[in-house]
Amino acid sequence: MSKDFITLADWSADELRAILRRARELKQLHHRGERPQTLEGRSLAMFFEKPSLRTHVTFEAGMTQLGGHAIWLRSEQVGIGTREAPGDVAANLSRWVDGIVARTFSHVLVEELAAVATIPVINGLTDLLHPCQVMADLQTIEEHRPLEEALVAYVGDGNNMANSLMLGAAVLGLHLRLATPESHQPVLRVRKRAEELAAASGARIEWSEDPAEAVRDADFVYTDVWTSMGQEEEQAMRREVFQAYQVNAALLRHAPKAFVMHCLPAHRGEEITDEVLDGERSIAFDQAENRLHAQKAILERLLGH
Ligand code: CP
Ligand code: NVA
Repeated sequence: MSKDFITLADWSADELRAILRRARELKQLHHRGERPQTLEGRSLAMFFEKPSLRTHVTFEAGMTQLGGHAIWLRSEQVGIGTREAPGDVAANLSRWVDGIVARTFSHVLVEELAAVATIPVINGLTDLLHPCQVMADLQTIEEHRPLEEALVAYVGDGNNMANSLMLGAAVLGLHLRLATPESHQPVLRVRKRAEELAAASGARIEWSEDPAEAVRDADFVYTDVWTSMGQEEEQAMRREVFQAYQVNAALLRHAPKAFVMHCLPAHRGEEITDEVLDGERSIAFDQAENRLHAQKAILERLLGH
């Protein structure tokens, strides 16, 4: 077991399954109005270099619901790398609180924090990975199909979501098809790591340039924005590159039974149409709901007594 939750590749299938089991249980308890106080007296520092709705609210509400407390640190307040070296920030926080959530541009920065911190560091999204989102996604998928039977098609940019989905699928043995332009495939080192993990788990991970081929008979069709946070200057170029990758009614005709997934926020009218995101096959808001429960399970695992 890793001290940190930075990449799903650091966790075994059994460990991730145990977190998902607990996430399911916590959701049931929550819906019954029960709030187990498993993190009583615990504190979590949350550091965000980028905007956030879901990650911020679900970590903060999750800590409160479990009897703990979260502290939101604005990045200009902390000044990591300008006011103070990342390692010094991590060393200070380690003396006061029980865990850190960090959302950064650079993935290396989260690794640097974790290298010095003596408390768990949780990746709340970097340019490279978004593992907490994928835990909520796996919980959502499992509400409809056993993971090892699920055929998931990801359509769009080979970004942090695609990278983390690949690693999650690889550890847990899912069948994942990715459709991205050749120029925007997931990064090579993540593809290689996913291949190694897939060889052990029996996962199937396939890539194609053709979205219709990727979604054919899929159980789940997943997409994410074409322009991620920090890439705003490339928006016009990206709209062109990804034009053929929109998840719309025409594409879904190739996957007549598929549920539609999106990590949100959505750029409606770009990677997904209103009709699809608001349609009856969309489970995007279930994914958002499950962020709360999946992360509470992660917090219990890392910060629990
Ligand atoms: N899906 C997700 O991480 O949402 P936020 O960027 O709002 O946290
Ligand atoms: N790829 C998106 C995910 C947002 C949750 C981004 O990084 O902006």
